[in-house]
Amino acid sequence: MNQTIVTGGAGFIGSALVRALLADGAPRVSVIDNLNSGKLANLEEVRDRVDFHQADIRDYPAIAPLFQDAGRVFHLAAIPSVPRSITEPVPSHESNIDGTFNVLRAACEGRAGRVVYAASSSAYGDTEVLPKTEAMSPNPLSPYALQKLVGEYYASVFSKCYGLETVSLRFFNVFGPRQDPSSPYSGVLSLFMKHLLARTQPTIFGDGEQSRDFTYVEDVAALCIKAARAPATVSGRVYNAGNGGRFTLNQTWSALCALDGVSIHPIFAGPRAGDVRHSQADTAAAVRDLGHAPQFTFEDGLRRTLEWYRANC
Ligand code: UD1
Repeated sequence: MNQTIVTGGAGFIGSALVRALLADGAPRVSVIDNLNSGKLANLEEVRDRVDFHQADIRDYPAIAPLFQDAGRVFHLAAIPSVPRSITEPVPSHESNIDGTFNVLRAACEGRAGRVVYAASSSAYGDTEVLPKTEAMSPNPLSPYALQKLVGEYYASVFSKCYGLETVSLRFFNVFGPRQDPSSPYSGVLSLFMKHLLARTQPTIFGDGEQSRDFTYVEDVAALCIKAARAPATVSGRVYNAGNGGRFTLNQTWSALCALDGVSIHPIFAGPRAGDVRHSQADTAAAVRDLGHAPQFTFEDGLRRTLEWYRANC
């Protein structure tokens, strides 16, 4: 019952989690990834301690045997993009809802230990009050937000109906090394890093006054591990996985320019469909129940991320 599984373990967050698990004492980690957006290069330094399975979570017969007697499962595999879920809703739906159901079913039938599920802060949509607490009603504004919310509900129902231990963590705009800037759907910070280093203008959708609780990837990985260890009373519950702060896109781009000693004016374009205006996590429940203790301020994270992009891009 000791095996640790990370779905999406070749992705930028998943690979950070794999490294954190190995550093935390896991002898080996099993990764399930279809390599659609993940890359084996993300696992390069730890490849000899990873059992890699190239499989798609939409393919139940392919993944089910891998979950037999697994000790703990971290389910991060997804198509993680709000705009992509609007332009391409079918693959997004199939991966994020059907794929999540398959992972929960495989874990349940394989008598696996706890499943930690990567949910999303997008589930909140726009709320009148900030920071956002888990007690607020969800208000999904995009297919992606709804899909991630359905995954939470499924995780909770598997806990209630089948006794599978699950914990959902609503990730708040995770950023850090290895986030891939090559797609128009890439996370904004990876795109900002690319433009900063190329000395080109980034595009900001809307007025740039929308804000995000940008959360450094190593803090999210640490919280995932804590969620897997927390007492059984957390099973079926949902927690924010954020830093607790909030920065506008305009502030973020200015901070990055200042770090690199340049001044580049962004291009402003129309607002993006499905966009949430402000996002900020209330971290109290995760601190209380899971021992969440973010180690990196936003500025620490920006510096470390920028160093990585300088050295690797
Ligand atoms: C949302 C979720 C986040 C989730 C992510 C998965 C919210 C609040 N957050 O992120 O938890 O992990 O989906 O993808 O719902 N932008 C630009 N220029 C660009 C790209 C983006 O201005 O070139 C803007 C977007 O319009 C948005 C902000 O930057 O306002 C952040 O966008 P993005 O990084 O794509 O993440 P979210 O959609 O906020």
